[in-house]
Amino acid sequence: MRVLVTGSQGMLGTGLLKVLARENEVLGVDKNEMDITDYAQVLKTFSSFNPEVVCHLAAMTDVDQSQNNPEVFRVNAGGTANLVTAAKKTGSRFLYVSTLAVFGGTQKTPYRETDPCFPNNTYAESKWLGERIIQSCLSEYFIIRSGWIFGGGPADKKFVRKILDLSKKTDSIQAVTDKTGSLTYTVDLSAAISALIKTRAYGTYHAVNQGVSTRYEITKKILEFAGTPSVRVVPVTSDAFILPAPRPDNESGSSEKLSQSGIYTFRRWEDALKEYIQEITGTDGYAKKK
Ligand SMILES: NC(=O)c1ccc[n+]([C@@H]2O[C@H](COP(=O)([O-])OP(=O)(O)OC[C@H]3O[C@@H](n4cnc5c(N)ncnc54)[C@H](OP(=O)(O)O)[C@@H]3O)[C@@H](O)[C@H]2O)c1
Repeated sequence: MRVLVTGSQGMLGTGLLKVLARENEVLGVDKNEMDITDYAQVLKTFSSFNPEVVCHLAAMTDVDQSQNNPEVFRVNAGGTANLVTAAKKTGSRFLYVSTLAVFGGTQKTPYRETDPCFPNNTYAESKWLGERIIQSCLSEYFIIRSGWIFGGGPADKKFVRKILDLSKKTDSIQAVTDKTGSLTYTVDLSAAISALIKTRAYGTYHAVNQGVSTRYEITKKILEFAGTPSVRVVPVTSDAFILPAPRPDNESGSSEKLSQSGIYTFRRWEDALKEYIQEITGTDGYAKKK
């Protein structure tokens, strides 16, 4: 298949490109090659590559920078609308990566695809708007909701990377105990996306590694797997970190729909995290402390 991937240099994009390139003709584009807010650029890329499938990952993803920032709607919703318009012209099937943060997080159990959405920050609102644009304009689409993604080595800007970096500078790390989520490895998510686009089983799917955890539990595991258990993890509540954007209390999801449909079954988050950390501590310069 000819597959176009937007946001190809991001944390998920770098991993997805590798997986898709094994079986497909893949064109990865990021902001330099195709700014998704520029419809002329989008149309030019679609017209020349004529993708059969579009995997749309490009987005403003910094949750705090997005808070009360209208630019995030221009990129995450307006950019998605540009891609949807172009995909209609070329008849391309469409896959969009959204977030479990669309639910707002008041429910105590992992979210399912049928639960109602009540986003509680600007970033999640913009991603949800992207979802609704796709649902109202296209019929052959996949919406994947994921959360707490890690992977990508140097492209990792998120939690796992931050903890690994901190563990080299300090002997004590504060980690939050009152927010839960589902950790997701880019390698596993890429395999799930690759399997999904081979099907015609259109619709919305949650795609996360199995198991629910807090930032505190994840931090302990990161340090254990990185061989730095001497760094102390101090349990704190989220009040200890004043952030511009509120975070959902619960960002966990269930990937049962994906596994029960026989498309892809995720492994436990601890197994995925261990594999990733072993890989990057060997190859990415994360030498053990001292
Ligand atoms: N990370 C998570 O935990 C998580 C969870 C659920 C869903 N998601 C979704 O998964 C997707 C991939 O996330 P990620 O973590 O890989 O994000 P990422 O590392 O920030 O990658 C996003 C990419 O999109 C690019 N981009 C931003 N604005 C653009 C524009 N106007 N035109 C073209 N490209 C643009 C970024 O370029 P610059 O870096 O140069 O801006 C970046 O390379 C996103 O749609 C995100 O909303 C992420």
